[in-house]
Amino acid sequence: SSPSAVSVLDLAPVVPVVVLQEAADAVPLARALVAGGLPAIEVTLRTPAGLGAIRAIAAEVAGAVAGAGTVITPRQVTECVAAGARFLVSPGWTDALLAAMQASGVPFLPGVSTTSEVVALLERGVREMKFFPAQAAGGTAYLKSLAGPLPQARFCPTGGIGPANAPEYLALPNVGCVGGTWMVPQDAIAAKDWTRIERLARQAAALES
Ligand code: 3PG
Repeated sequence: SSPSAVSVLDLAPVVPVVVLQEAADAVPLARALVAGGLPAIEVTLRTPAGLGAIRAIAAEVAGAVAGAGTVITPRQVTECVAAGARFLVSPGWTDALLAAMQASGVPFLPGVSTTSEVVALLERGVREMKFFPAQAAGGTAYLKSLAGPLPQARFCPTGGIGPANAPEYLALPNVGCVGGTWMVPQDAIAAKDWTRIERLARQAAALES
């Protein structure tokens, strides 16, 4: 089954943003996230381990929907989809990157932080976006302000979100999900503390209700 066919925003209310130093950690980490109730997993390409991690999760972790984050070039789009990525997320966008994402066959979230970028994406037929860096770019107040003139745009805010402010984002009508690293802390990954990550994932998954 492919729940990712239409929209990244509807996969799960909370999307963990995973930064891996070692691709070998990908499978046990993803299993912990799935067990904790977070099946949609954004693996960033900001470390060299990212692409191999996507490949491993896609091949080995039942129930996971592995996507790629920090996608900033058309070449990365091709590589990630070949590795099995089922969604793509970028921190920002260009026309070349957007064209590659639109041709990829998988759902995608181009990153925006300004009103003009939202309008430009709507003009190009894209209604779902990452709002990044969410807290630094204006947070929930900014998203509330966009909902008036641009109600057709829907967002996955990411950047500076944690358990304390996630509910306020998720309550907004133009927010489909939130992303963040808080449930996959680097010290827990380094210690291979999958039990702690599963517990943090379960707490994050409970934010949806
Ligand atoms: C991202 O790439 O979406 C952010 O780096 C995640 O931000 P956070 O670490 O503040 O959650």
